[in-house]
Amino acid sequence: MNQEDKIYVAGHRGMVGSAIVRYLLDHGIQPKQIITRTHADLDLGHQEEVQSFFAKEKPTQIYLAAAKVGGIHANNTYPAEFIYNNLMIQANVIDAAFKNGVKKLLFLGSSCIYPKLAPQPMREDALLTGTLESTNEPYAIAKIAGIKLCESYNRQYGASHGVDYRSVMPTNLYGPGDNYHPENSHVIPSLIRRFHEAKVSQSPIVAIWGTGTPKREFLYVDDMAAASVYVMNLPKPTYDQHTSPMLSHINVGYGQDVSIAEAAQTIAQVVGYTGEVTFDTSKPDGTPRKLMDSSRLNTLGWQAQVPLLKGLNQAYQDFLSKISA
Ligand SMILES: NC(=O)c1ccc[n+]([C@@H]2O[C@H](COP(=O)([O-])OP(=O)(O)OC[C@H]3O[C@@H](n4cnc5c(N)ncnc54)[C@H](OP(=O)(O)O)[C@@H]3O)[C@@H](O)[C@H]2O)c1
Repeated sequence: MNQEDKIYVAGHRGMVGSAIVRYLLDHGIQPKQIITRTHADLDLGHQEEVQSFFAKEKPTQIYLAAAKVGGIHANNTYPAEFIYNNLMIQANVIDAAFKNGVKKLLFLGSSCIYPKLAPQPMREDALLTGTLESTNEPYAIAKIAGIKLCESYNRQYGASHGVDYRSVMPTNLYGPGDNYHPENSHVIPSLIRRFHEAKVSQSPIVAIWGTGTPKREFLYVDDMAAASVYVMNLPKPTYDQHTSPMLSHINVGYGQDVSIAEAAQTIAQVVGYTGEVTFDTSKPDGTPRKLMDSSRLNTLGWQAQVPLLKGLNQAYQDFLSKISA
């Protein structure tokens, strides 16, 4: 990063995009170097609008954190929107970046790109080795296409135009800016809300779906932002040495998983809920384990910094500030 960079953060009002903006501002980037547009001001699904925005603003670096994102229910209900919007956003931004001379771009994917039965922990080379989880297949296919867009532009225009488009695949994220919707949120924000409401209403029991034994990995969103900036700024020879032209993405995880029961107990502790936590074993458990293998990124010199307890404390403060706003 230097003082000449003009950095476009796409999706700057989302959980990850806002964390990237915070991180850049905390690490020497001036506010005037960061370009943002709300969804209302610029719909990234519209090719012409995107091309004219790039032609006018001429960014030099792009963090592509804009996407249509949602849980299982939303993915199942709106599969057409998930595949179409994500394909369009990526294709428009990546092609406009190329046509406007942008050399550096970072695309954010997701761990759902890996096959449902990928060996655990999931390595980057598990990509395209098996059948995807059916509930979010359209979203995952769009994310895989995003990786392949970056790789294809690199392969065709890397040598001639200096194009260097990279991809990172985050594990489950949590933290400030998360969605705490009662029905439509991920595990951590939904448990934060449930334990908080149980504390306020003095409910004696909170019942968690399933046995509590499945294990999941959670990464604090500020760690994700730090990893994104780290990968964007790795020297090209280093990035090239640890990736290959058609297997170029990098996993970003915390490196350890926890059982749902441990996560629930920790959230209860953070929230100050003193009632009983039980498990409704009549409800399904889902995949027993989902953990990323982040050794490629660790070898490149980056490690997550925020332990779960600390991250959850900060996430709970964020939740409290949202409900009092
Ligand atoms: N959250 C996670 O646990 C997680 C895990 C793995 C990967 N990721 C990836 O990280 C990236 C960011 O996720 P997030 O959690 O930050 O999502 P988010 O909070 O939903 O933010 C996404 C942002 O993109 C914007 N956006 C969506 N469609 C747009 C369009 N057509 N034009 C312009 N802006 C548009 C949204 O604006 P509006 O809200 O106004 O539409 C929103 O600000 C995504 O690629 C996601 O797949 C997230």
